[in-house]
Amino acid sequence: MGKLQGKVAVITGGASGIGAATARLFVSEGAKVVLVDLNEEKGKAFEEELKANNAEAIFVKANITSEEEVQAIFKQTIEAFGKVDIVFNNAGIGRVQPSHTLEYAEWRNTVNVDLDGVFLVAREAIREMLKSGGGSIVNTASMYGWVGSPGSAAYNAAKGGVINLTRSLALEYAEQNIRVNSLCPGFIDTPIIPEESKQILASMTPMKRLGHSEEMAKAVLFMASDDSSFMTGNSLTVDGGYTAQ
Ligand SMILES: NC(=O)c1ccc[n+]([C@@H]2O[C@H](COP(=O)([O-])OP(=O)(O)OC[C@H]3O[C@@H](n4cnc5c(N)ncnc54)[C@H](O)[C@@H]3O)[C@@H](O)[C@H]2O)c1
Repeated sequence: MGKLQGKVAVITGGASGIGAATARLFVSEGAKVVLVDLNEEKGKAFEEELKANNAEAIFVKANITSEEEVQAIFKQTIEAFGKVDIVFNNAGIGRVQPSHTLEYAEWRNTVNVDLDGVFLVAREAIREMLKSGGGSIVNTASMYGWVGSPGSAAYNAAKGGVINLTRSLALEYAEQNIRVNSLCPGFIDTPIIPEESKQILASMTPMKRLGHSEEMAKAVLFMASDDSSFMTGNSLTVDGGYTAQ
């Protein structure tokens, strides 16, 4: 039997990269998945692919920065599958730009998606899990939630915020059987990383390569499943050694 047999998992940013790899692993472990993304074309195509392989999956187009759309994700999940056991709160955007040239609107947009959006999804997940008796939330932070880097102040500030949001929510809902943990990836080979940056980012990593989305998915499965049943408020770094430097 799969580790997630009968479980229902909502995955934001589920149309691409780390979210899509996690959806594939989750369905192979018996989960029903709700793919949430802004990108309707990719999301629908992925939903069809999973269904063609006999998985139970639906795609919901939503922007995680909209309260109404986030509420609609959970409404549609309950309508389709009756409950929510796992939320992989993973959608995010990156931006590299010197801070003194960053417009306030651009700062706000990054923090809005990468921190506010994570809060909105977590809040709605908790509301459902309080009704059903518990669940597991995994937020995607970043190794840049632990350490700084030039040119990514908004992203790094938001990801640092996700790590402490994770601790705070974990403490707040520990007695209600809701576990909250984070994934802190290093440089992972997904569309968020521009092709021209890949070689330099690999060379900055002690293991001298980029990580793969499938390697992130395995860490997410650990945190989402009962394999980590006594773990909450933790942020698991999977970065090829970058933050050990
Ligand atoms: N790839 C890396 O090197 C790396 C490193 C550390 C952290 N991360 C984090 O991992 C997460 C997943 O990124 P990825 O590398 O798979 O990138 P990706 O671009 O392949 O996937 C991100 C997905 O999120 C969706 N998305 C963006 N904004 C959204 C919004 N407002 N509402 C709904 N969906 C939205 C995008 O459409 C996209 O499909 C992000 O939070 C990212 O910050 C990635």
